[in-house]
Amino acid sequence: MSITETETRTTEQESEEKFGVVGARLARYDGDLKVSGSAVFGTDITFPNMLYGKIFRSSRPHARIVKLDVSRAENFPGVRAVVTASDFPEIVYGFAIKDELILPKDRVIFYGQPICAIAADTLEIAEKALAEIEVEYEPLPNVLTVEDALKDDSPPLHPGVVPAGSPPYRSKNVASYTKVRRGNIEKAFRTADFVLEERYETPQTHQGYLEPRATTAEVDQKTGRVRVWTATQSPFLVRNTLAELLAIPVSQIQIMSTHTGGAFGAKILCHLEPFCVMLSKKSGRPVRMVLTRAEEFIAATPRPAVHVWIKSAVKDGKIVARQGRSVVDCGAYGSDGAVYANIAAFTLQGPYDIPNMETEGIAVYTNKQPAGAYRAPGTMETAFGVESHTDMLAVKAGISPLDFRLNNLMEDGTVGPTGQIMVSVGVKDALRKAAEKIGYREFRSRRRQAKDSHLSRGLGIACGLIPTVGIHASGAYIKLNEDGKIILISGASDTGTGAVTGLAMIAAEELGVGLKDVMVQSGDTDVVPWDGGAQGSRTTYGAGNAVLMAARDARNQLLTVASIVLKTDRSKIELRDGRAWIAGTNESTPFSGLVGRAQYNAGGPILGRGYFAKDFPEYNKDFVEGYTFVPSLHDPTFVAHIAEVEVNSLTGETRLTRYLAAVDLGRCINPLGAEGQIQGGVTQGIGYALTEEMLHDENGFPTNPNFTDYKLPTIMGVPLIEPLIVEGHYGNGPYGAKGIGEVNIVPPAPAIANAVFDATGVRVRKLPLKPENVLEAMDESAPIVP
Ligand code: MOS
Repeated sequence: MSITETETRTTEQESEEKFGVVGARLARYDGDLKVSGSAVFGTDITFPNMLYGKIFRSSRPHARIVKLDVSRAENFPGVRAVVTASDFPEIVYGFAIKDELILPKDRVIFYGQPICAIAADTLEIAEKALAEIEVEYEPLPNVLTVEDALKDDSPPLHPGVVPAGSPPYRSKNVASYTKVRRGNIEKAFRTADFVLEERYETPQTHQGYLEPRATTAEVDQKTGRVRVWTATQSPFLVRNTLAELLAIPVSQIQIMSTHTGGAFGAKILCHLEPFCVMLSKKSGRPVRMVLTRAEEFIAATPRPAVHVWIKSAVKDGKIVARQGRSVVDCGAYGSDGAVYANIAAFTLQGPYDIPNMETEGIAVYTNKQPAGAYRAPGTMETAFGVESHTDMLAVKAGISPLDFRLNNLMEDGTVGPTGQIMVSVGVKDALRKAAEKIGYREFRSRRRQAKDSHLSRGLGIACGLIPTVGIHASGAYIKLNEDGKIILISGASDTGTGAVTGLAMIAAEELGVGLKDVMVQSGDTDVVPWDGGAQGSRTTYGAGNAVLMAARDARNQLLTVASIVLKTDRSKIELRDGRAWIAGTNESTPFSGLVGRAQYNAGGPILGRGYFAKDFPEYNKDFVEGYTFVPSLHDPTFVAHIAEVEVNSLTGETRLTRYLAAVDLGRCINPLGAEGQIQGGVTQGIGYALTEEMLHDENGFPTNPNFTDYKLPTIMGVPLIEPLIVEGHYGNGPYGAKGIGEVNIVPPAPAIANAVFDATGVRVRKLPLKPENVLEAMDESAPIVP
């Protein structure tokens, strides 16, 4: 990596170039479809002869299956197929760790685990027939907590399975291990002004999307070809996993992604698809499955609970060393947990310049539903510890949390977790702007006195960063029709984020047309080019670069025809308003004519092709060991958030009174879309901060699997979230964009906890900050006066 790259990148567009479409506040290209109800979601798919599928699930967290008898269910009138483990190829699968079975033969390892599946003429019949399935269990010992899973003699959930990253632990329930080590922590700890060590805990939480998982499959009885309509973030990953699980070639499978009513990470991998396919194969009819909300809670793939231990050394107001460990409670399967733990080991650095580091990320198995991806996996949970701890370091150093952060935040040239040189770092810029806008220094210098003495107000800061998971590639095609309209063919999926609108805007920008002139074709794996899916904040960044390249390719082809038609050199031609112009003249010709001419005799149909593929930024292999799906960070987006709260010391209630979110996103493609992502991310973060937690009793049974007892934030608890978009620290996305999808969920919990601390002097180290936890922390700790 050359030295010049350590400076904030500039792009060709930075100075005077004006954009036509990029940067405009545009509504979603598919907004009309959605508000009118005509968009087809996973739950809307229907066929005349369709069957309804249901899953029979384990009623034990950990047990041997002594007997399974499905004969009565098979013979139940209206039941058309029952599938059990013996219907599937014997495949043990998993992304990082091979520990998953589609259906178990002899043992269940979490409450709600699928045991078999049935398809019937109606949903009512399917539900009734479930009661006809007979199963006998023999109980096995449960491992339900992180503490139990870490014990040397913890009974292994997956005997014989090879963990990821060679964990140096005796417990066989340690599923993965990642370690970062750089510099000399021992020396730094010895010579510091002070050392502070703390522990933090975060709960298991559900993605809470509106649309539950929904899939329909149809298997052609003659050819065996499999067609699947499913609400997914990544049709190609579903296709490839399905091919692996069914032991058939990928070309035997066609995935159509439907409109998707929210996903947030949960709809990346296969879930219902194998069951629907096998039931369809067996019954000869299309089969649809839709999870109930209760099934979503007990048996889907939530954010795991995480325990964070963190210890830092400070000298002269600078963090000089950090040690830490994040332990991820990954539940029954390890793969997503391993990714969480990998990222968590890095995130213990936070967005700070820390020269000496030794951190670990570990995932442990428990008899709970398996963890899955959820917006900012590994980062968000760890950041609650890191950013709360940062405030405690500031208190101990006698410096304000704002100035302490400004002293320590990353900048261009800072060394990242594994030795990469950070570039385009706008976090200080974002924090300064946020602090100024909210009046941070004024607030602290004349602390507002609330009228009632039991109400106190405080401000809390938290910063954060999220890279895009850039290793996944994207392709794109741009096709022009004879009326001059543009068809963008992309493998990207829009799960409700609006990101695909940004892709259409990029195509419109490059070709000199309006957004309404671009139609998007996506989601059919037979037709669209490969795409790594809507994950890792990558759609605008990765798919956007592919679209940019495809549009430039199409533009190039247009220029060639235009130079023939206009009888002038290509360099003199400009494309704008759907026409090719001879620069500086009134002479022009419409795209429609150019496309017609190309198809007739000048170069052939206009079809642009583009792709994006990029390796990880250079890092030092000596600084990291164990499992590293992500070894360094692609173009992180940085955030600086400030929360204002009012805490009631009698009830322990926290009310948010103001929330400001500053985001260093490089280049903003669509401010309306970006603000939606900021406000949506913060809202989910507020739920995580104040109310959300999935609970289990001491026997491992879920106790709040519904939206009555699992408290999502509502309009009553969420103030107007003020977005502050900071441009200029450009990334490698189109026009210098960086990702925006995940990063804004990261700071709310610690920002709010820090605001509670600012208001009351009480440090809450366990999420959520529900009244009970706040009151408990008030009882435990004599307030530390800030
Ligand atoms: Mo995400 S949690 O990479 O969809």
